[in-house]
Amino acid sequence: MKFGHFDDQKKEYVITNPRTPYPWINYLGCEDFFSIVTNTAGGYSFYKDARLRRITRYRYNNVPVDDGGKYFYINEKGKVWSPGWKPVKTELDRYECRHGMGYTRITGEVDQLEAEVLYMVPLGYHGEVQRVKLSNRSDRKRSFSLFSYVEWCLWDALDDNTNFQRNFSTGQVEIVDSTIYHKTEYRERRDHYAFYTVNEQVAGLDSDREAFLGLYNGYDAPDAVMECESRNSHAHGWSPVASHQLNIELEPGEEKQLVFVLGYVEVPVADKFVEDQMINKEPAEKMMAKFRTAADVDRAFNELGNFWEDLLSVYQLEHPEKELNRAVNIWNQYQCMVTFNFSRSASFFESGIGRGMGFRDSNQDLIGFVHQVPGRARERIIDIASTQFEDGSAYHQYQPLTKKGNDAVGSNFNDDPLWLILGTDEYIKETGDWTILDEMVPFDNDESNKATLFEHLKRSFNHVVNNLGPHKLPLIGRADWNDCLNLNCFSETPGESFQTTENKEGGVAESVFIAGMFVLYGASYVKLCQKLGKEEEAERAMGHIEDMRKVVDEHGWDGKWFIRAYDHFGEKIGSDEREEGKIFIESQGMCIMAGIGLDDGRARTALDSVKERLDCEYGIVLNNPAFTRYHVQYGEISTYPEGYKENAGIFCHNNPWIMIAETLEGNGNAAWDYFRKICPPYLEEISDLHKTEPYVYSQMIAGKDAFKPGEAKNSWLTGTAAWNFYAISQYILGIRADHDGLLINPVIPEAWDGYTVTRKFRGATYRIEVSNPGHVSSGLKELILNGEKLEGNLIPICDAGSVNQVQVVLGK
Ligand code: BGC
Ligand code: NOJ
Repeated sequence: MKFGHFDDQKKEYVITNPRTPYPWINYLGCEDFFSIVTNTAGGYSFYKDARLRRITRYRYNNVPVDDGGKYFYINEKGKVWSPGWKPVKTELDRYECRHGMGYTRITGEVDQLEAEVLYMVPLGYHGEVQRVKLSNRSDRKRSFSLFSYVEWCLWDALDDNTNFQRNFSTGQVEIVDSTIYHKTEYRERRDHYAFYTVNEQVAGLDSDREAFLGLYNGYDAPDAVMECESRNSHAHGWSPVASHQLNIELEPGEEKQLVFVLGYVEVPVADKFVEDQMINKEPAEKMMAKFRTAADVDRAFNELGNFWEDLLSVYQLEHPEKELNRAVNIWNQYQCMVTFNFSRSASFFESGIGRGMGFRDSNQDLIGFVHQVPGRARERIIDIASTQFEDGSAYHQYQPLTKKGNDAVGSNFNDDPLWLILGTDEYIKETGDWTILDEMVPFDNDESNKATLFEHLKRSFNHVVNNLGPHKLPLIGRADWNDCLNLNCFSETPGESFQTTENKEGGVAESVFIAGMFVLYGASYVKLCQKLGKEEEAERAMGHIEDMRKVVDEHGWDGKWFIRAYDHFGEKIGSDEREEGKIFIESQGMCIMAGIGLDDGRARTALDSVKERLDCEYGIVLNNPAFTRYHVQYGEISTYPEGYKENAGIFCHNNPWIMIAETLEGNGNAAWDYFRKICPPYLEEISDLHKTEPYVYSQMIAGKDAFKPGEAKNSWLTGTAAWNFYAISQYILGIRADHDGLLINPVIPEAWDGYTVTRKFRGATYRIEVSNPGHVSSGLKELILNGEKLEGNLIPICDAGSVNQVQVVLGK
């Protein structure tokens, strides 16, 4: 069952039934100010950091679900409704929510009165602009009141949710004309405030929640709205809010537009006040001046559209299947930007409180996004590397506002350092900017202790070399990619964190997954060394990689697949010897991507085992058989019921590793089959089962052992976005940035006739037409650049500004 449809022309998903199986959200903002908005206008805003600078309040896991947001109410002679259906839930004659690239447009209509709200965060602007368009489609005069509503968060979202003894007394506002200023804590240490305004004289206002709502009411029936009369309240403590009342009259056919702005302002400390405790409103007034009229909004809206047009134009596919086009050209790339911006901090499954920017996550997010905004990727790489320790290890996450590492979810995840090599290498391949390796980058954010980024990569590499276990495989540390394989944590205490508790000596448990990573990203490191003429270092690194390969051959192969790890007792995990968890996906993907087993049939054997044991209707599960009980020596993985999350869920993040592995085997049919199974637009028809948005990937789809296979959770913020884009764009469609040009190596289903990709790379444009007359999966028969036949599969870098025609003919 579907709840809407794609509008590819406008790059929108159009929701036509507000009762989606879960709130279906969108993100506004691409720089500093962000909002999350649901299809019924729920959600919240923050500046840079979802925990430390939360601007509006949101209650997760609320009843009813998704209560609280940027609401509008209409009261026409006692008939009360909201354009987004919620919170009032009056049946609408027409409802539509269009989630687009950085904006959301929600329209409701009742009795031929239409209200359309456009929510957007303009480029370079620290605020959310809401344009409300009211249209009288009837042939009678209409008079009604429009109410707006937002609820302020007292800045630190964690404190706001917990510290009520203090917070109920600190709330402060100022009100001037149509603007409500939220200035809680401004009198003391904060140099920032927020405001909510409308570009017209109001009939009334509210800034105290209780006055507006009534103590015992929900958002569905605020006293002020139901009685059609703002209370003109001024908040003193308790819960400050902001609501405007506008009385409106519309002649038949008449339309009226209003512009609301929810803004965030920082003021230099010396200029905080204009007179005794009155806040300096000048910066806010400047912001308001930018959006006085609907035309101002139109202009910003067009700018935003052009911005996205431009970003997405770097990789554009023309393919006979519309689902694939919309995934590759629009939504997958859009999701990559969102994951790049938010890492795992704020979604409808991440509260914005617990997790900042992940070290491993951000490096991986980067690979799906670096082609779009390489400058920001560069900055990100430096930020991430700045949280690395001298010995190459890393904080697992850092706070976006302070850019400082924190160990709230532990550290010593021994895969972390290697991801920095991946991120940096992908950046250099895309841009050819080798200067990044010379950047001086601090360790642990200590400006007095710096080394080049190259040195950081070396420390990443050496961190593995210096932390080997009894089989000479890499020690797993806290956990490797799999946060829930906690081999040094034997937890018997409820509530203890599996990620921060380490109560076993960490010198035994080893990871075959990190071994594969080391071979794979170690090879990237070697290439960088060679390009820089550091031959000796390259030789040294190659020696270690060769050793690791041998160790994997000797201790990492189980007969039909790669072993996953060795536990604290030196017992194999992911082996036929075990009753549960005989085979895991991660080591198959990573070892084969590293090339291990490609030349001797082991890769094929392992991939066949994946197909046989891990594949199911909805994707590839993480492990099999699922753990049916708690294994204290394995940790969190065995705490999840079968089929969910890391315990045999379809953890979509690593499905693309298998797709890529299949392409390395030349098996385009299998790679495509796996891709299609989890690719959101192909799942639109089963939206009722899938539950999460059909336009973005979810972290997890319940696996074959689950109570409800096929049901997804944790949409949006997942490494799935970047890895799937990487797999489809670079390995299946086969167009890959490399140090010296664009590598062309499609590995596609035999049934495909061909497709065209337009790729912008280092300033030039390449229009690459791939044809498959012999219906093969892979192999270049011909590669022609601007009429000239090329040997091999590399298109050299063409002049900046040039437009180049490339013909690729597949065949034997
Ligand atoms: C989740 C991860 C998370 C970890 C630590 C796991 O259950 O799958 O997303 O990083 O817990 O909180
Ligand atoms: C989500 C985390 O963000 C990511 O870092 C991790 O690799 C996966 N969960 C698997 O545990």
